[in-house]
Amino acid sequence: MQDADQERADRRMDDVDSLCRLCALGDLTEGQPHRVEIAGHDPVAVYKVGAEVFVTDDTCSHGKASLGDEGELDGFTIICTWHDGAFDIRTGEVRALPCAQPIRAYPVILRDGLVHIALPRG
Ligand code: FES
Repeated sequence: MQDADQERADRRMDDVDSLCRLCALGDLTEGQPHRVEIAGHDPVAVYKVGAEVFVTDDTCSHGKASLGDEGELDGFTIICTWHDGAFDIRTGEVRALPCAQPIRAYPVILRDGLVHIALPRG
Protein backbone atom coordinates (compact mmCIF):
# COMPACT_ATOMS: atom_id res chain seq x y z
CA MET A 1 0.00 0.00 0.00
CA GLN A 2 1.35 3.43 -0.87
CA ASP A 3 1.90 6.00 1.88
CA ALA A 4 -1.03 8.17 0.77
CA ASP A 5 -3.37 5.15 0.71
CA GLN A 6 -2.20 4.09 4.18
CA GLU A 7 -2.74 7.60 5.53
CA ARG A 8 -6.29 7.67 4.12
CA ALA A 9 -7.02 4.24 5.63
CA ASP A 10 -5.63 5.37 9.00
CA ARG A 11 -7.79 8.52 8.92
CA ARG A 12 -10.88 6.42 8.14
CA MET A 13 -10.14 4.13 11.10
CA ASP A 14 -9.58 7.19 13.31
CA ASP A 15 -13.20 8.11 12.59
CA VAL A 16 -14.45 4.68 13.61
CA ASP A 17 -15.39 4.31 17.26
CA SER A 18 -15.87 0.57 17.35
CA LEU A 19 -16.92 -2.51 15.50
CA CYS A 20 -20.43 -3.54 16.38
CA ARG A 21 -21.45 -7.19 16.04
CA LEU A 22 -24.93 -7.51 14.52
CA CYS A 23 -25.67 -11.18 13.89
CA ALA A 24 -24.32 -14.41 12.51
CA LEU A 25 -24.10 -14.73 8.74
CA GLY A 26 -26.14 -17.92 9.08
CA ASP A 27 -29.02 -15.93 10.63
CA LEU A 28 -29.58 -14.07 7.36
CA THR A 29 -31.92 -15.25 4.64
CA GLU A 30 -31.19 -14.36 1.03
CA GLY A 31 -33.37 -11.47 -0.12
CA GLN A 32 -35.02 -11.03 3.29
CA PRO A 33 -34.32 -7.80 5.24
CA HIS A 34 -33.54 -8.19 8.95
CA ARG A 35 -33.95 -5.53 11.63
CA VAL A 36 -31.24 -5.49 14.30
CA GLU A 37 -31.40 -3.46 17.52
CA ILE A 38 -28.15 -1.88 18.74
CA ALA A 39 -27.74 -0.62 22.30
CA GLY A 40 -27.17 3.14 22.25
CA HIS A 41 -27.67 3.46 18.50
CA ASP A 42 -30.56 3.53 16.07
CA PRO A 43 -31.55 0.11 14.72
CA VAL A 44 -30.15 -1.05 11.40
CA ALA A 45 -31.41 -3.25 8.58
CA VAL A 46 -29.22 -6.10 7.34
CA TYR A 47 -29.52 -7.61 3.86
CA LYS A 48 -27.90 -10.64 2.24
CA VAL A 49 -27.64 -10.52 -1.54
CA GLY A 50 -25.70 -13.45 -2.96
CA ALA A 51 -22.44 -13.72 -1.05
CA GLU A 52 -22.55 -10.04 0.01
CA VAL A 53 -24.04 -8.41 3.10
CA PHE A 54 -25.20 -4.80 3.32
CA VAL A 55 -26.35 -2.71 6.28
CA THR A 56 -28.35 0.51 6.29
CA ASP A 57 -30.36 2.55 8.73
CA ASP A 58 -33.53 0.65 9.57
CA THR A 59 -35.88 3.63 9.68
CA CYS A 60 -37.15 5.03 6.39
CA SER A 61 -36.25 8.70 5.93
CA HIS A 62 -39.80 9.51 4.81
CA GLY A 63 -41.62 8.17 7.86
CA LYS A 64 -41.03 5.79 10.71
CA ALA A 65 -41.35 2.53 8.81
CA SER A 66 -38.89 -0.23 9.65
CA LEU A 67 -37.13 -1.30 6.47
CA GLY A 68 -35.86 -4.44 8.18
CA ASP A 69 -39.30 -5.55 9.35
CA GLU A 70 -41.56 -4.13 6.64
CA GLY A 71 -39.35 -3.51 3.61
CA GLU A 72 -39.22 -5.61 0.47
CA LEU A 73 -35.85 -6.28 -1.09
CA ASP A 74 -35.59 -6.25 -4.88
CA GLY A 75 -31.99 -6.84 -5.91
CA PHE A 76 -30.00 -3.99 -4.31
CA THR A 77 -33.12 -1.89 -3.71
CA ILE A 78 -35.08 -1.85 -0.47
CA ILE A 79 -38.67 -0.77 -1.00
CA CYS A 80 -40.52 0.80 1.91
CA THR A 81 -43.97 -0.73 1.89
CA TRP A 82 -45.63 2.21 3.63
CA HIS A 83 -45.53 4.53 0.58
CA ASP A 84 -43.33 2.69 -1.95
CA GLY A 85 -40.26 4.87 -1.46
CA ALA A 86 -36.98 3.06 -2.09
CA PHE A 87 -33.24 3.14 -1.38
CA ASP A 88 -30.11 1.54 -2.76
CA ILE A 89 -28.79 -0.71 0.03
CA ARG A 90 -25.21 -0.32 -1.25
CA THR A 91 -25.14 3.45 -0.80
CA GLY A 92 -28.32 4.55 0.97
CA GLU A 93 -29.22 6.75 -1.99
CA VAL A 94 -32.87 7.38 -2.75
CA ARG A 95 -34.26 5.24 -5.57
CA ALA A 96 -37.92 6.25 -5.46
CA LEU A 97 -40.12 9.04 -4.15
CA PRO A 98 -41.65 10.06 -1.83
CA CYS A 99 -38.32 9.51 -0.06
CA ALA A 100 -36.12 12.56 -0.56
CA GLN A 101 -33.36 12.05 2.02
CA PRO A 102 -30.86 9.20 1.78
CA ILE A 103 -30.36 6.77 4.62
CA ARG A 104 -26.96 5.73 5.96
CA ALA A 105 -25.18 2.72 4.54
CA TYR A 106 -22.54 1.24 6.86
CA PRO A 107 -19.22 -0.45 6.10
CA VAL A 108 -19.70 -4.18 6.71
CA ILE A 109 -17.00 -6.40 8.15
CA LEU A 110 -17.48 -10.18 7.97
CA ARG A 111 -15.31 -11.93 10.53
CA ASP A 112 -15.50 -15.53 11.75
CA GLY A 113 -18.99 -15.99 10.35
CA LEU A 114 -20.30 -12.87 12.10
CA VAL A 115 -21.57 -9.60 10.60
CA HIS A 116 -20.14 -6.38 12.03
CA ILE A 117 -20.41 -2.74 11.11
CA ALA A 118 -18.03 0.09 11.86
CA LEU A 119 -19.84 2.78 13.82
CA PRO A 120 -18.57 6.32 13.32
CA ARG A 121 -17.72 8.51 16.28
CA GLY A 122 -20.43 10.79 17.52
S1 FES B 1 -42.48 5.83 5.41
FE1 FES B 1 -41.19 4.94 3.92
S2 FES B 1 -41.94 5.71 2.01
FE2 FES B 1 -43.17 6.69 3.52
